[in-house]
Amino acid sequence: MASTVLITGASQGIGKATALLFAKNGYDVVLAARNPETLDATAQEVRAFGQAVLAVPTDVSKLEAVQALVERTLAAFGHIDVLVNNAGICMQGPFEETSIEDWQQIIEVNLWAYIYTIKTLLPQFLAQGKGTIINVGSFGGKMPLPYMTPYCTTKYAVTGLTESLRLELEPKGIQVCGVHPGLTKSNFLERTKFIGKDDREVQERHNQMVQIQENAIASSPEDVAQAIWNMVKHPQAEVVVGAAAVPTLAHRLVPNVTQWMLQRSVKA
Ligand SMILES: NC(=O)c1ccc[n+]([C@@H]2O[C@H](COP(=O)([O-])OP(=O)(O)OC[C@H]3O[C@@H](n4cnc5c(N)ncnc54)[C@H](OP(=O)(O)O)[C@@H]3O)[C@@H](O)[C@H]2O)c1
Repeated sequence: MASTVLITGASQGIGKATALLFAKNGYDVVLAARNPETLDATAQEVRAFGQAVLAVPTDVSKLEAVQALVERTLAAFGHIDVLVNNAGICMQGPFEETSIEDWQQIIEVNLWAYIYTIKTLLPQFLAQGKGTIINVGSFGGKMPLPYMTPYCTTKYAVTGLTESLRLELEPKGIQVCGVHPGLTKSNFLERTKFIGKDDREVQERHNQMVQIQENAIASSPEDVAQAIWNMVKHPQAEVVVGAAAVPTLAHRLVPNVTQWMLQRSVKA
């Protein structure tokens, strides 16, 4: 019987690369994301590896939808071995221009959805006495990023969720691991909300992020997928993927220096 992985945010970017890699390595794959067309297109590619694939259009920020996703998965495969919490969105802009609705939206997708999947799946993992939970966080959950306060708030929360839950569940046979990508060349900016006092500022912030993504040393979605796969094979507490490993380590060792540099590197 093949092992099964459930991946959220699986229709593109890191989630899609992860789905392809797990299928290539003999896993049956459950794909979740909202847009049914892109999800189906990804499912077709994953099927080419000869594994069973279930694509379930799901808004993971809704508890009932996550419960239905897990029910459908268990009905189809009878078990889940690996959960990859990956669906995420981003926001960029000054705190004072963000609305409460902005905060609610990003917390629902980047944090609540991770809690929903874990809460829904955990009884099954506990009954099996095994299972692996990979939480895709961010380097923004290991160091502060100015003008990305909502995003970093959710990603620091994911770090706390991952690290604390790991201590609780490891003695019960369940691995909880954090994979923190650095800048990754996906279409992440499609779902990034740029915030500013007027259209001009919003456009400037967008252009700045595009420039950073084009010029910075960035990983590929496949690099992050490989790190997720390595975690499942050789579980560890966490890994920071790509060039972001350097500034996150620097931030841990000399936080005053990194804070000083960050304040000067980003346009107000
Ligand atoms: N790219 C980067 O530079 C970077 C850096 C650090 C961390 N990360 C993290 O890596 C993860 C994946 O990022 P990515 O770059 O692969 O992003 P991406 O290319 O934008 O893909 C995001 C995926 O999440 C899905 N999604 C978004 N909202 C959802 C919702 N409410 N319910 C279900 N699915 C949802 C999207 O599909 P639908 O829109 O169809 O739902 C899509 O499949 C995120 O957690 C992100 O924070 C990315």
